[in-house]
Amino acid sequence: MNTDTGTHFLHPDRNLGMELVRATEAAAIRAVPFIGRGDKNAADGAAVDAMRKFLGTVNFDGVIVIGEGEKDHAPMLYNGENVGNGRGPACDIAVDPIDGTSLTAAGRQNALSMIAVADRGSMYDPSAVFYMDKIVTGAEGKGVVDLRKPIGENIRALAKAKGKDVADMTVAVLDRPRHAQLIDDIRAAGAGTRMLLDGDVAGGINAALYGTRIDMCVGTGGTPEGIITACALVAIGGFIQGRLHPNSDEERQKAIDAGHDLDRVLEANDLVTSDNTYFVATGVTDGGLVAGVRKMGPVIRTESIVLRGKSGTIRRVSADHLAEKWL
Ligand code: FBP
Repeated sequence: MNTDTGTHFLHPDRNLGMELVRATEAAAIRAVPFIGRGDKNAADGAAVDAMRKFLGTVNFDGVIVIGEGEKDHAPMLYNGENVGNGRGPACDIAVDPIDGTSLTAAGRQNALSMIAVADRGSMYDPSAVFYMDKIVTGAEGKGVVDLRKPIGENIRALAKAKGKDVADMTVAVLDRPRHAQLIDDIRAAGAGTRMLLDGDVAGGINAALYGTRIDMCVGTGGTPEGIITACALVAIGGFIQGRLHPNSDEERQKAIDAGHDLDRVLEANDLVTSDNTYFVATGVTDGGLVAGVRKMGPVIRTESIVLRGKSGTIRRVSADHLAEKWL
């Protein structure tokens, strides 16, 4: 229910996504001078700075649940920081000014600037464990695939649900040594892999969207990225499961002390309990989801995607920005 009183309302309203996209556009544009220059921290710093400035102008009362890390290490957009002008709905916010900082520094494809927002208190707090095992599919995967099952079984079940041959299935997975066995198992099942250098949020969204070449995204990636993906999937009606994956005894103990059950398989509505979500992303470099920032004569063109959970809408936003305003 929207309790808008004209000056103050409690929940994110329909305009918020279109406001937030200005922040991801700004972050992507400011990252451009750093594309292919080998300095991922400089690229991230420029994007963080731009995103924070724009977020300060948006009508909402946001608290960063997933940000650039703890306050001690991150001077801006740190976990717990208040963002927005404070005059609007109370929200949890997850920011990733660049998902794919190494891709940006190398001049590779698929780097995105992204923000996810949901009602205050509805995002899972992943602070204890950085990595998570994940499986993401479109709506056909609901009640069909399960993180606890062998990958081959999941591929066969999803192929059947989608009415496809296993040989026509493509599974996205981060190209990491830890996934060697998983990759062998996917291929042994008869499916193909789409190896991601980085960026498993875009991989997951592409697996959930209709009309893409990816059927499933699996593997161990960032926990923050898992929650951001879940916010996006509310609008697509996709399927995600995640399970915390501590990488050391210390991390394992920290998670247990924080009350986490490490065997628990988290479903989409555990990762974000509200359906009042937004996910916005702007391409930094070209990718399968959106094109990257392009300079064309006097304008800078950005491409973005705006997903609204409540209405189940996916909007693609192309904007031309007068370059002289960004000098
Ligand atoms: P950053 O660019 O923010 O560092 O993240 C890129 C990314 O590929 C994520 O998309 C993914 O979830 C995570 O890193 C995987 O971590 P790792 O690179 O340590 O395997």
